[in-house]
Amino acid sequence: MSEEKEFVVTPWEVRGEIDYERLIRDFGTTKVDSELLERIKKDAGELHLFLKRGLFFSHRDMNWILDRYEAGEKFFLYTGRGPSGHTHLGHLVPWIFTKWLQDRFGAELYFQMTDDEKFLFNQELSLKTTMSFTYENALDVIALGFDPKKTFIFSNVEYVKTLYKIALEIAKHVNFSTVKAVFGFQNTTNIGMIFFPALQAAPCFLPSVLEGKNIPCLIPASIDQDPYWRGIAREVAPKLGYYKPAQIHNKLVPGLGKGGKMSASEPETAIFTTDDPDVAVKKIMSSYTGGRDTAEEQRRLGGRADICPVYHNYEFLFVPDDKELKKLYDDCKTGKMLCGECKMIFASKLKPFLKEHQKKREKAKGMLDKFMVKD
Ligand code: TRP
Repeated sequence: MSEEKEFVVTPWEVRGEIDYERLIRDFGTTKVDSELLERIKKDAGELHLFLKRGLFFSHRDMNWILDRYEAGEKFFLYTGRGPSGHTHLGHLVPWIFTKWLQDRFGAELYFQMTDDEKFLFNQELSLKTTMSFTYENALDVIALGFDPKKTFIFSNVEYVKTLYKIALEIAKHVNFSTVKAVFGFQNTTNIGMIFFPALQAAPCFLPSVLEGKNIPCLIPASIDQDPYWRGIAREVAPKLGYYKPAQIHNKLVPGLGKGGKMSASEPETAIFTTDDPDVAVKKIMSSYTGGRDTAEEQRRLGGRADICPVYHNYEFLFVPDDKELKKLYDDCKTGKMLCGECKMIFASKLKPFLKEHQKKREKAKGMLDKFMVKD
């Protein structure tokens, strides 16, 4: 027991070095194995890079979703964002994957902006601020190229009339001791937070309610959101006569600091989509790496790509070509390439990426109406 390293993964806190195998055991999810990958490949016609590289590593009921799909039953996608600040690279990972799923499976997407949650959770944020970040973040979602006819983005605050009825049905089946156990709520937790899980679970059933028939739901999301599905949505679904939502979980993209995920609360270690490309490059230059103390030592011992956030950024987002990735890895591990050079490579990939995204983000400003739904 004491051999295992300490780490914490909850919807509001991610700390330490995450052991993903152990999370699968602790959360009771299933590993994405080669058999499932084969099946996804068959149904989707290809495998997304995130699947090939093990970034989406855990799931629940994916085989069930594919059973339904193969039998001709469409599923919908549900994911979301807590709009507490600007979008960073880590947020883009599940969204990029969601877009791929939409394209490949022709699925509708319901995208929840939990401006209520971020207001309730964070003492410093006003409701006005979180609601305005709903719109800022929606621009990043739209910029990724989702289909406006199949994508519904909503602010919880502005769509609550529709959501509330479903949330009430859910809330009636969840007692305080359950949310205490699932989320670690305490007597000092404000009562808004105690009700909030019912609102995050509500979209799992929303299309079924809107269409008056059961529709399977697939949630692509970071693993830290699992308590909502495990503890609330999946528990309540059979009691309300709905399907349990299926899930596929991604690992958390590391920040540019030592350990931990990319987090908006540590802005110097997160690359925001709105960062001026030159500012982003400065962040890269002061990033933690797996490098040694001196150049001499690094030439002799090699770098440590496996623990380096720069390398992980290549792996997940910036180097889709396997050969190129392997070369970067090998050149690092053998001491051929030092961190300074490697960071320059990262900068040369990041700059055009940001410029391109920011152009699309500007264009998205004229498209908000096509995507946002309200009561
Ligand atoms: N609570 C999530 C966050 O803080 C936002 C969210 C709402 C979400 N619904 C979701 C994330 C569904 C993934 C899937 O970021």
